[in-house]
Amino acid sequence: MEKLMIRGGRPLRGTVGISGAKNSAIALIPAAILAETEVRLDNLPQLTDVAVYAELLEQLGCRVSWTDDAMTIDPSSIRSVPMPNGRVKLLRASYYLMGALLGRFGEAVIGLPGGCNFEPRPIDQHIKGFEALGAEVTNESGAIRIRAKELRGAKIYLDVVSVGATINIMLAASRAKGSTVIENAAKEPEIIDVATLLNAMGAKIKGAGTETIRIEGVGEMHGCRHSIIPDRIQAGTYMIAAAATRGDVLIDNIIPKHLEALTAKLQEMGVHVYEMDEAIRVVGQPKYESVDVKALVYPGFATDLQSPMTSMLTQGAGVSILTDYVYSNRFKHVPELVRMGAQIRVEGRSAIIEGGRLNAAKVRAADLRAGAALVVAGLTVEEGTTEITGVEYIDRGYEKLVTQLSNLGAEVWRQG
Ligand code: EPU
Repeated sequence: MEKLMIRGGRPLRGTVGISGAKNSAIALIPAAILAETEVRLDNLPQLTDVAVYAELLEQLGCRVSWTDDAMTIDPSSIRSVPMPNGRVKLLRASYYLMGALLGRFGEAVIGLPGGCNFEPRPIDQHIKGFEALGAEVTNESGAIRIRAKELRGAKIYLDVVSVGATINIMLAASRAKGSTVIENAAKEPEIIDVATLLNAMGAKIKGAGTETIRIEGVGEMHGCRHSIIPDRIQAGTYMIAAAATRGDVLIDNIIPKHLEALTAKLQEMGVHVYEMDEAIRVVGQPKYESVDVKALVYPGFATDLQSPMTSMLTQGAGVSILTDYVYSNRFKHVPELVRMGAQIRVEGRSAIIEGGRLNAAKVRAADLRAGAALVVAGLTVEEGTTEITGVEYIDRGYEKLVTQLSNLGAEVWRQG
């Protein structure tokens, strides 16, 4: 079993360049199949989820070519193939094939999505949207079958602010007849990125990034070239790691505005954070205040940074309370941090964290961001070697993690 080994206690120092956003890439790749001609995506992250998605499009008959940080998708010979099983189950974001195939062919059969299962993650709002657009949705032995004689625009109010449902409805509605309005839409930067690509492909979408999105359906869409936004979660994780190790790191090729909630919290703890046009410099300090953190939908503090932030809060001088209002039980990192000596207890949707030193231990990453939390924790440990299993989860979201951390002076390597 492969392990990530960390001998911590070294302040991270230097510059780290951030790749394109995973959660954009895995929506933009399926979005490309709505076009009749070639779509090129630049600033693509090199991640396992991206590779799986490329294979899924090939199964549908697309021609996909892929270099270091760009992917070209030629959907001109795509066909609608049922995908009840197989690799769709490896990836939660395979649900975007539902909206994209529905928009393109009026039908889709997709196995219920897998991915990081830190808690049950329903897709009822996606289905509500497809039904409002005129589709019939049935569950056939764990696969979702969606069929529409004709997709018609509709007004859809999301009961829950959902990134996935907002994007899925945008995908299908782009090719529906007439206009669609999504109310209570998610406002994450990844939504804007998808709308930007779709508009460059000929869609007519307004309001992405606000809670009301209007989509005028179009008959045909075409290829284009698009550059993926920087990964704000990867960037935020390096900001936290720099602060937790009392380092000095320039996090480069990012959009600092996407990280404002984290920047504010780190500053409240006493970290020195300097924003530049496309970079943020984080300078750690010997002592930190404890603070309370509430994970919310964007522009609030990102739930995906909640786990690594838990590790940062172990460095505070007193008691911090971290509450996740997006997921009620995303705390699989907590028992592992406790193994490392952290004083944390979970009460309802909150983690109560008492500051103190961590020690080396053998721990397991149960999901992607839980893994990021353990990496940050391991980097702060002054004696001994932390061994993290479940590396395959971490690989889903952090391109070249070992190389990037080593370049910043960390002693980290893979074993086994
Ligand atoms: N929800 C419902 N019904 C739905 C959809 C969502 O009740 O139909 C609930 C969820 O259970 C959750 C909340 O709404 O409590 C928000 O879920 P959302 O749909 O926004 O999440 P998602 O689209 O499935 C994406 C990211 C996650 C990230 C969340 C929240 C992708 C592929 N995943 O998930 O990223 O945590 O938004 O920002 O884009 C990660 O990168 O580690 C990750 C898990």
